[in-house]
Amino acid sequence: MKIITARTKQKKYPVYINVDFNSFFPQIVNKEFRDSEKVILITNNKVFSIYEEKIKSALEKCLKLSEIIIIQDGEEYKNLESTDYIYSRLIDFNAHRNDVIVAFGGGVIGDLGGFAASTFNRGMKFIQCPTTIISQVDSSIGGKVGVNYRKVKNIIGSFYQPDAVIIDPVFNYTLDDEQIINGLGEIVKYGLVFDKSILDKLLKNATGDSKNKPGELIKAEDFKDIIYRCCKIKTKVVRKDEFDTGYRNLLNFGHTIGHCIENAFNLKEISHGKAVSIGMIIAIDISISLGFLKEDFKEKIIELYKMLGLPYKMPEIDAGKIIDVIKYDKKFKSTQNKFVLLKGMNKPLFYYNLDEDTIIDNIKKSMYN
Ligand SMILES: NC(=O)c1ccc[n+]([C@@H]2O[C@H](COP(=O)([O-])OP(=O)(O)OC[C@H]3O[C@@H](n4cnc5c(N)ncnc54)[C@H](O)[C@@H]3O)[C@@H](O)[C@H]2O)c1
Repeated sequence: MKIITARTKQKKYPVYINVDFNSFFPQIVNKEFRDSEKVILITNNKVFSIYEEKIKSALEKCLKLSEIIIIQDGEEYKNLESTDYIYSRLIDFNAHRNDVIVAFGGGVIGDLGGFAASTFNRGMKFIQCPTTIISQVDSSIGGKVGVNYRKVKNIIGSFYQPDAVIIDPVFNYTLDDEQIINGLGEIVKYGLVFDKSILDKLLKNATGDSKNKPGELIKAEDFKDIIYRCCKIKTKVVRKDEFDTGYRNLLNFGHTIGHCIENAFNLKEISHGKAVSIGMIIAIDISISLGFLKEDFKEKIIELYKMLGLPYKMPEIDAGKIIDVIKYDKKFKSTQNKFVLLKGMNKPLFYYNLDEDTIIDNIKKSMYN
């Protein structure tokens, strides 16, 4: 097991990586959450159907009153209706501020459960147990919690750091290929922006036909270290800029356009991770068209994408539709837009006021035709 301490103004908390959830979770709850009378675990129906036994056995070992709240699976349930449902169950269960809420699932459950935890009783104790790659390397750390509203992603939310993050990489073994690919996209982001050695490790382990069998890659011993490195980067970035006012924006590499692609395809047809993968290629294309990068940089990254089975093109769509969504993106200030681009490997830069034509031209390059 490895432990990283996340230091934020709100809280200092441990991120436990490479643990065996079944034995470790009860141990931590009984030791570190002694004052909590109840443990309330929030998950979704899909994750519950896979891990019902594991969840129940871990909760039994916690020697506390426990409750399980089950939300429907899907990004479309990361909304105020689900939050309302969680609140009503917490009231039924007479949950107090000292009781602990556990988000057990992917980024959707983490964001939604965290948002409920941050607002109910003006803030409950909160543990993140991420069960997807994206949530393990990214969303469970850093305190961004929230829900979508009227088709706008994450538009309602808050910063609420968890009290602990517990990462068991074995949960990733039941992810389907699509979810693995989503997670790999997020990992490539860390490699491109912060730490090239992550890309080297991915490449090293991707030699065995990862494109067709991404499940093999994530079982490699190196993959545990990749998760650790990503968590390390995320905690460092959050420490420097907890409230996302500057430096933390670097994590938006590929995301500004990625979120908009996701929205333009109605949050359904293209998943978050795939949208981000394509968004990173568009950001690289923009970097090339502004003279920051050479074409061969993109070629090498496309090779890596192919090895990993990551998408670099999307179905044809009116690029203007994506631009329309960009204008509503909360990451865009009303007077100026801000993109994270690259001027080399691990050399990110912020670029302001990118003109619409450059964005549209480069979005078009990433469409099948
Ligand atoms: N808060 C942040 O900082 C932050 C950062 C990145 C992404 N996000 C959010 O995270 C979400 C995407 O995260 P995600 O990809 O984890 O989505 P997700 O939670 O929808 O999980 C993806 C799918 O995998 C299933 N699943 C979860 N764990 C599983 C397991 N162990 N085995 C099998 N199936 C499993 C889920 O039920 C779902 O169908 C988006 O809503 C995005 O906005 C938040």
